[in-house]
Amino acid sequence: MRRASKIRDLVKGTSLTVNDLIYPVFIKEGISKPEPIDSMPGQYRLPMEDSLKEVEVLTSLKVPSVILFGIPKKKDATGSEAYRRDGVIQSAVKEVKSVFGDKIAVITDVCLCQYTDHGHCGLVKDGEIVNDETLRLLTLIAVSHAEAGADIVAPSAMMDGQVQAIREGLDSAGYSNVAIMAYSAKHASCFYGPFRDAAYSRPVFGDRQSYQMDYSNSDEALREVELDIDEGADIVMVKPALAYLDLIYRVKTTFRMPTAAYNVSGEYSMIKAAGRMGWLDEKSAALEVLTAIKRAGADMILTYFAKEAAEWLSS
Ligand code: PBG
Repeated sequence: MRRASKIRDLVKGTSLTVNDLIYPVFIKEGISKPEPIDSMPGQYRLPMEDSLKEVEVLTSLKVPSVILFGIPKKKDATGSEAYRRDGVIQSAVKEVKSVFGDKIAVITDVCLCQYTDHGHCGLVKDGEIVNDETLRLLTLIAVSHAEAGADIVAPSAMMDGQVQAIREGLDSAGYSNVAIMAYSAKHASCFYGPFRDAAYSRPVFGDRQSYQMDYSNSDEALREVELDIDEGADIVMVKPALAYLDLIYRVKTTFRMPTAAYNVSGEYSMIKAAGRMGWLDEKSAALEVLTAIKRAGADMILTYFAKEAAEWLSS
């Protein structure tokens, strides 16, 4: 059955397609030209106008969805730029939706870490992250994104109860059609390093281990996912993806929910780096990894390879 490629095609168990891909885009306030991100070759911080050009490229490649990350000019203790009605993401979503409408599904990341001066995903009191007071701010962010036109909001702060708070906030503001993609099993991972360079979101003190999951645990990932489903998540996520294929498999087979996997910045950059060194064939490595993530059970993959993969898959 492996003798010839057409026979292999007949028995292929997993086919990666462009419809599986979600492309992350960084939008930075107050710049006029794209800024290359050194630790993520091929990725840029974009000014608002260029983010529209980027979405144009994505729609022409038939990539169905984009997730937007904002980088504000000012940061403060409560991350107030994150829930300003004309903040960087709110403005970008409005523009993208008015130009492209339903030609692209717009997802927004709902978190505080890019917007707080201390770089944590929640409010800080006496050196501790305060869960419950953070929920109100996460809800404000999500509602402001919905008001701007986001199709799906994606809470990534790993605060307990965030999905329920956001669902209630969206419903009472009249956005019951806005879906929630929950970063449910999000682990404290060194693989987010390049993203934190890109978004200047490294915590100023401590780390994220008091709210993001311990990567040694897998039953806990199932409990986190179950809670998020009970709280109203429409899509659940495992993050990172490559070193977490067992969790993608367990989450998919246990809950049968739409399941997303985040092929994070460090997973992207290590393939790029090896490709540049001539140690790996970048295209083959990326397609093998993305196919494996899908084979493990992911219905959709957030990946910085989305544009390249769309081209590779169409040729
Ligand atoms: C915000 C957020 C992070 C990522 C996605 N949303 C950073 C973090 O938790 O430190 C990481 C994505 C990546 O590494 O590609 N909380």
